[in-house]
This record gives sequence, structure tokens and C-alpha cells, in this order.
Amino acid sequence: PSLTQDSQKLLCAQRAASLVKPSTVIGLGTGSTASLFLQHLSHLLSTASLHSIVGVPTSRKTEDLAKDLNIPLTDLGSHSILDLSVDGADEVDQEMNLVKGRGGSLLREKMVEGASKEFVVIVDESKLVPRLGTTGPIPVEIVPFCWEYTIMKIKELFQGEIGFDAKLRTVWDEKEGKEVPFKTDNENYIVNLLFEKGIGGDLVTFSDQILRITGVIEHGVFIGMATSVIVAKKDGSIVILD
Ligand code: A5P
Repeated sequence: PSLTQDSQKLLCAQRAASLVKPSTVIGLGTGSTASLFLQHLSHLLSTASLHSIVGVPTSRKTEDLAKDLNIPLTDLGSHSILDLSVDGADEVDQEMNLVKGRGGSLLREKMVEGASKEFVVIVDESKLVPRLGTTGPIPVEIVPFCWEYTIMKIKELFQGEIGFDAKLRTVWDEKEGKEVPFKTDNENYIVNLLFEKGIGGDLVTFSDQILRITGVIEHGVFIGMATSVIVAKKDGSIVILD
């Protein structure tokens, strides 16, 4: 049997939901895999298999979905330490470092997941990579003010790196009939960093260098944050990294 990617997402999402204990505060991730987790969580609540949980959403989209699914919500101001967060990822390396934010929610995700005692990542096997940045861009959230300047400063960091590029993320605006900057939930912009062969060198150095640029708010590389990764494979099996 060969599971589709969607069935793999469902499999790891259900496994993660089965790990949730009653009376806990849960960080609720963003994306298609995390949405399946929310749906299963809601199902467990509605059938009284689970009770007394409260969630902290990592995006407006997840907040709306949680409300539709009757999952009670709170925020980090009321609960500064969460028991568990569950979220998908765009890429996972062998050390459980992640790329997140290709959906645009990296800042809220990093805040919520960073406040969690446990952070469980749920992915299908296509997300496993030998090196971060190989299957797509590394998103970086920046302030809109003088964004061209901030991109210039980022480009200076990777001067000489063959195949490197940094591009503002845009979306098609139907009303305006043109591409406009993509805006995050926090009204910021996203710059996509493209590496031909992934991020070369040390991830902590990479992170420090980018965060030192004043216009940068946060980037989508999550270093040492995941406590376990539930990987659903095509053959229908589940592998847990921890
Ligand atoms: C959202 O900004 C991202 O970090 C998502 O968690 C990531 O894109 C994974 O999404 P999928 O589960 O849809 O692949």
C-alpha cells in the first residue's frame, strides 16, 4: 500500500491528537497538517474522550478554525507556559531543526512553540531533508519600512554564496490587478531566502547574523525547539524522532 501525502498528514495528525492529555494548555499550529490535528482534537472533545483543554492559536486562520471547531482558546498573556504545542513543518533535518513559515505564520509559531514544554512536529516523510533550505525558501519576517534596504542588508550577508537570492514574497491582488507584498498576521512582509544547496554552515551563526539586521523581526529556522517529530510514511508506518 502507498499512502497519499494527505493520508500521511492525517495519520500523524491523529497520532498527535491521541497524545493530548486532559486539563492541558496546547499550542495550535498552522497549515494543512495542523488543521487535521485540530479537527481530530475537536472530535475527541465532542465525544468526551478528552476534556478541559485550552488552545493558543499560532495564526488568525488557526484561531478562526479553532472557533469553528469549538476548541476553547487563550493566549500567552494568560498562560505563559504551555504543556504542549503541535504543528507541521516545511522541512525537518536529522537533528530535528525545522524550516517553518512557508505559510507565513512563523513569528506567532515561534512565540507559542518556544513557550511550550513539549513541541511535537507532525509531518509526512516528504518533509525530511538532509539540509535545511533544500526544498524551498527560508522565510524571514521583516518590517515593511524600507524593505528594499533590509533585503539589501540580507543579500550582503550571503554575498559570494553561489545561487543565493532574496525576494520579497508577493501575492496577486485581484482588485489592483497586480502583485502586491504578502502581509503576515502582524502586518509585516516576508522575504524568501533561496539557497541552491540549502543553508551551508552552522545554523546558529546563520540565525544570529540574520537577527542582527535591525529591520528583521524573525526567521523561519527553528533550532533545537522540537522535542519530537512524528513522521508518517508512504507505507503507512509511523516513525517517531526524539
Ligand atoms: C505555517 O507558517 C508553516 O510553518 C506551516 O506549519 C508549514 O507550512 C507546514 O504546513 P503544511 O502542514 O500545510 O505542510
